[in-house]
Amino acid sequence: MVTIRTMQNKRSNTLGLVMALWLVSLQLVCAQNMKSSTALTIKDSTDDLNDGEETQLPDDEDLEVFRPTDKWQTLKPGQAVPAGSHVRMNLQTGQNEVKLGEEGLNRWTDGKRQGIMNTNNPSFTAQELKEALKKFKEGTDDSEGTKQEEDAVRANFRPIEELKKDMEALDILMETDIQVMRRLLNQFNNTNSTTEEKITALLDLEYLVHQVDNAQNLVSMGGMQLVIQALNSTDIRLQEIAAFVLGSAVSSNPSVQVHAVEGGALQKLLTLLATQRSMTVKKKGLFAVASLMRHFPFAQVHFLKLGGVQMLSKLFQTPGAEALRVRIITILYDMITEKELISQVGLDLIPDSSHQERLRQYAEVSLLPVLEEQGWCRLVPELLASHEHDWREKALRALLAMMAQCQSQFKQHPTLTTSLTELQKQYKELVLTEQDVGEQDGYFGEILALVDSIVVKMQRV
Ligand SMILES: *[C@@H]1O[C@H](CO)[C@@H](O)[C@H](O)[C@H]1NC(C)=O
Ligand SMILES: *[C@@H]1O[C@H](CO)[C@@H](O)[C@H](O)[C@H]1NC(C)=O
Ligand SMILES: *[C@@H]1O[C@H](CO)[C@@H](O)[C@H](O)[C@H]1NC(C)=O
Repeated sequence: MVTIRTMQNKRSNTLGLVMALWLVSLQLVCAQNMKSSTALTIKDSTDDLNDGEETQLPDDEDLEVFRPTDKWQTLKPGQAVPAGSHVRMNLQTGQNEVKLGEEGLNRWTDGKRQGIMNTNNPSFTAQELKEALKKFKEGTDDSEGTKQEEDAVRANFRPIEELKKDMEALDILMETDIQVMRRLLNQFNNTNSTTEEKITALLDLEYLVHQVDNAQNLVSMGGMQLVIQALNSTDIRLQEIAAFVLGSAVSSNPSVQVHAVEGGALQKLLTLLATQRSMTVKKKGLFAVASLMRHFPFAQVHFLKLGGVQMLSKLFQTPGAEALRVRIITILYDMITEKELISQVGLDLIPDSSHQERLRQYAEVSLLPVLEEQGWCRLVPELLASHEHDWREKALRALLAMMAQCQSQFKQHPTLTTSLTELQKQYKELVLTEQDVGEQDGYFGEILALVDSIVVKMQRV
């Protein structure tokens, strides 16, 4: 198995360092394909290196055979290395280094090509290799100087070109995302894996499933089910990261949303939010719930049926969960406005059948009455007590969105009217400070407009 990829490297920030001494163990590359005159010509290992017979080499350039030892040594241009040697490029000097091969190398074959990869070595994604190469090239382009230096660069130039070819060969051999995902899923699903290994596998998966295709592959490989199961794993870190993977996989990915909901993800997530779990787990759980429901009325209906609103009300009022309050309100607000926007779009468009269908689906999402029933006309104003402008803004927008349903309750709310008066006063002053620095349509002005609008709408009969 060729493994040229570890995302942990990226995460642990050792990448730059590792890149500088880039070990690829290029035992590449197909002796039969290396017809060009090259510094990286690989001799067949059956050659007798001692008799100096280079006549078998495929070109007539006078190649010198390099004799590797167990130490890294710099390879000179025009030198050939015996097959089975380790070759690496030092990205800082641009020189190739070589040493004797050792155990731990896996032979690979792929059609006509064959070679050896050291699976223990640090390995990289295609992108990382390309970036390394780019930096490397930039470095050599910069090195303008004396004639001598230029000559030195030129002497190195051909090997660099050859290395590029080698890297292209590597590129072909690179694991595809599907292969990587299969490996990660196996690592995650293997009962022998430690929790740390499982966490690493999930984090790497999370990185991959941002791509639409990868998220769909997660489903077809059976990985979605594994992730959903992990939502109630006994390890809270696995719960948290499973929710993270799930949320990322379903984001803007309708077909994956469908599979996740059908696979029972919503139920599991609501359980996760309703039971005693750490705040970090719940935070990621809310992220996953929000991603699952966004632009997906089917999931929203499901959420309502499963008692999602009650559950969020409970969470909102849980002591110690204050940090989650703004996220909860945002989820509810997004649901309200999403439905409103859909029906507004219908006003200026010639309705097509898919739009009709969407309207029909959103018509089933009857959120506002449930919000009222579950006490949200009373709960949302509580968020105004926050000192965060951002939180207040979210609360104000939610109040406006709920006005039609909650107006009479807002009027009777014990603190809402005083809060609004107080906010009006505060933001009027803040708007003045904004104007002092020449800002006409500033953020505080925006908040003030929201407060004013609520005050006006609350007075309507
Ligand atoms: C787990 O390890 C045992 C012992 O090393 C091995 O026999 C078994 O095949 C492994 N299981 C998996 C799923 O890799
Ligand atoms: C996970 O492992 C189980 C048992 O070893 C196996 O039946 C299942 O197919 C595996 N799932 C995936 C997605 O690899
Ligand atoms: C997770 O939930 C499933 C079904 O809801 C249950 O069968 C399983 O025992 C739970 N696992 C843990 C570790 O609680």
